[in-house]
Amino acid sequence: MTGTTGSITPEQQQAWWSARVPDRWQIYLYEVDSVAVAYGLLRLVDDRWWLTFGVAAHLRGRGIGKQVARHLVGLVPGPIWADMHVDNAASVGALHAIGFVGGLIEDGVIRGMMHPGST
Ligand SMILES: CC(C)(COP(=O)(O)OP(=O)(O)OC[C@H]1O[C@@H](n2cnc3c(N)ncnc32)[C@H](O)[C@@H]1OP(=O)(O)O)[C@@H](O)C(=O)NCCC(=O)NCCS
Repeated sequence: MTGTTGSITPEQQQAWWSARVPDRWQIYLYEVDSVAVAYGLLRLVDDRWWLTFGVAAHLRGRGIGKQVARHLVGLVPGPIWADMHVDNAASVGALHAIGFVGGLIEDGVIRGMMHPGST
């Protein structure tokens, strides 16, 4: 994404994003004992909030993705959407588990949506 292949600090990462991201985006880095374990991204596009998220590869499948997604859903004032690849079982599983509903919008893509407080 940046062309940098070495390690960078959370502060460097934050500065990189801050210099590039429009006001209507919100980016979260989740840490345990000062070690980054997950990120979350909220984007306001065409009056809709969109969510995407990721968990460090070695920590997936332990419920962190659901916690991150719940946190992000709780931050927006209305409904929230997410597009997922049908083959991305972890993404579909995490969002479905916290209350996203939806269906195929095109070949291979599921569009999910939920309202805050509907978990
Ligand atoms: C998608 C992602 C964030 C999920 O985070 P996670 O911490 O692994 O997910 P959780 O442990 O919270 O699991 C959530 C649910 O999905 C299920 N699940 C997780 N991994 C799964 C897998 N590989 N296959 C099937 N189901 C899976 C879990 O069983 C759980 O369901 P349950 O509550 O009914 O048991 C993580 O896998 C990731 O970072 N993937 C790469 C980036 C990505 O694809 N982001 C999504 C973009 S929309």
